[in-house]
Amino acid sequence: MSKLAISGGIPVRDTKTNPWPEWPVWDKNDERALNETLRSAVWSYNGPRETEFNRLFAEYTGTKYALSLANGTVTLQLALEACGIGLGDEVILPGLTWQATAATVLDVNATPVMVDVCEDTWCIDPEEITKAITPRTKAIIPVHLYGSFSDMDEIMKVAKKHNLVVIEDCAHKHGGEWNGKKAGSIGDIGSFSFQLSKLLTAGEGGALTTSSFGLYEKLDALRNCGRRPEPKDSVKADKGAGLYFDEGNFIQSGNYRITEFQAALLTEGLRRLTGQNRIREDNAIYLNSLLKDIPGIIPMRRDKRETKEVYYNFSFRYDRKEFKDLPVTRFRQALTAELGIEFAASYIPLNKCSLYAPLTKPSRHKLNDEYWKAIDPSRFELPVCDRIHYEQSVCVHHKALMGTKADMDVIADAIRKVRGNDDELKSQN
Ligand SMILES: Cc1ncc(COP(=O)(O)O)c(C=O)c1O
Repeated sequence: MSKLAISGGIPVRDTKTNPWPEWPVWDKNDERALNETLRSAVWSYNGPRETEFNRLFAEYTGTKYALSLANGTVTLQLALEACGIGLGDEVILPGLTWQATAATVLDVNATPVMVDVCEDTWCIDPEEITKAITPRTKAIIPVHLYGSFSDMDEIMKVAKKHNLVVIEDCAHKHGGEWNGKKAGSIGDIGSFSFQLSKLLTAGEGGALTTSSFGLYEKLDALRNCGRRPEPKDSVKADKGAGLYFDEGNFIQSGNYRITEFQAALLTEGLRRLTGQNRIREDNAIYLNSLLKDIPGIIPMRRDKRETKEVYYNFSFRYDRKEFKDLPVTRFRQALTAELGIEFAASYIPLNKCSLYAPLTKPSRHKLNDEYWKAIDPSRFELPVCDRIHYEQSVCVHHKALMGTKADMDVIADAIRKVRGNDDELKSQN
């Protein structure tokens, strides 16, 4: 075996001559749309590009309504608000996610209840949801993490039984399908992020999807300083749906709108998304077929009900026992050096995440002693999340999947090379 790149050897991939695909992707159409927006002087406020993107995104997600917002954090906050969730309510969510999934629950003064995930998908474990339900539970936020889909059949069953709202956090799942239904169309509301690293991006941005006219109307007001939604030609009220807003009825809120520049980029990006998702899916399936034959590498479990796989990150599990007990951190470093693209750990479990720290803000969150205790992250135990993050997780950004099958062969070659040199790495520990 040749010497590892991390020890000064020649890397498996020379990224100077053979770089990985770039992200974000843009072309002349994006330039034209941005220039046209600039010259139009209509830069914001419910403009034609935003209206058109909302229509296209609703169509894309198979929902009746979509609303674009400033980012994929405020989308979650407003989704919770629109569902009437607040003080005294509990919201169940996975312990392995970005901090926003839980922080937004705090932002509406409700209590985040973190539960463990399935070890083979890293998504919320439906059995743990059932165990965590109390008379105060009002909602579940499943997160379709990286390349996996939460078990929406089980989640919807539990939600129906206990009369709970389901807000799908689809920040990683633009275009993914479960049983032929798009992410964001299965629960009551879908929440998307368009931040730079995401599958559809405008640098920043987010969107909410729903097929309930009542929720749509509240969300529209909440994103726009509480103004009563203006009647829009592009939106048809459900027959018989009662209008939430009577004449003169407003709702307290802030400004969470996007700009026309963002909407222009999103509309162009959406045209490319289906093709990009297909390339990523084909490459991920091929790469998993290579990885399953490497001892110590465990591909993520694919579910037959996942009819369209979508990858924000490509991830797999690492078993150090098969690598002569080499720690996963060292494995990731060695792989990163071989391939010239970062192989990282999963999110940190929320009960240990320094960016999820409600007790750092007593002036905001110490509403009463009971609430203060309930939001203390250290009261939660998340052994599966811990194992995934600290011992098993290996993740790479989706741009690694945007090239060719030969790129996938190179990733598998690099893993084999590290495995063949595990003794050398181990001795450097
Ligand atoms: C699972 C998840 N939810 C929500 C968000 C928040 O999105 P944004 O960064 O657009 O606020 C992110 C961002 O990374 C995320 O990964």
